[in-house]
Amino acid sequence: MYPLFFIGFMGSGKSTIAEKMSQQYNYSYIDTDEYIESKYEMKISKVFEKYGEETFRQFEHEALHEVLSKDIIATGGGIVERNENIQLMSKKGTIIYLHASFAEIDRRLQGDQSRPLWLHSDLATRQALYNRRHTLYEQCCDYMIRTDGLSIEETVQEIVNNLSLNEHNKL
Ligand code: S3P
Repeated sequence: MYPLFFIGFMGSGKSTIAEKMSQQYNYSYIDTDEYIESKYEMKISKVFEKYGEETFRQFEHEALHEVLSKDIIATGGGIVERNENIQLMSKKGTIIYLHASFAEIDRRLQGDQSRPLWLHSDLATRQALYNRRHTLYEQCCDYMIRTDGLSIEETVQEIVNNLSLNEHNKL
């Protein structure tokens, strides 16, 4: 059932995989962070700096409602922080959790300057956020795709294999 919502921790590859899949299958695609950046003409890091996380969560919640006509929607890692977002995604489409291990995320986000919640946290806080979010992602998803060690193409194939088992999907 469409849209497909891609959820997962920062750096799990949601945007890359979602975009690749949309190109491969000719689906429309949007990324909620990019949508917010273009709507407010401001980088996400700037939104955090200027207005704080709560306001960003409000922008994100509104963005989710505004992009529902797309086939594939890549969300920000914190989309699950609001229960209404989870309810909306569950009601409107199919939720795909792109899982990556903490070690893999840590490796991918070395030197990243664009994600304030990662950048300004110590290791223990990052790990705690990862663990808490993992539980939320796991609980609300329709499919969890383990991405460690998979290429972009292999990850897309894995998603397609999972979806094809479900007769309601049009793949
Ligand atoms: C966030 C994840 C980011 C972005 C913002 C907050 C989070 O998106 O929405 O920095 O709370 O996990 P990505 O998951 O695309 O990095």
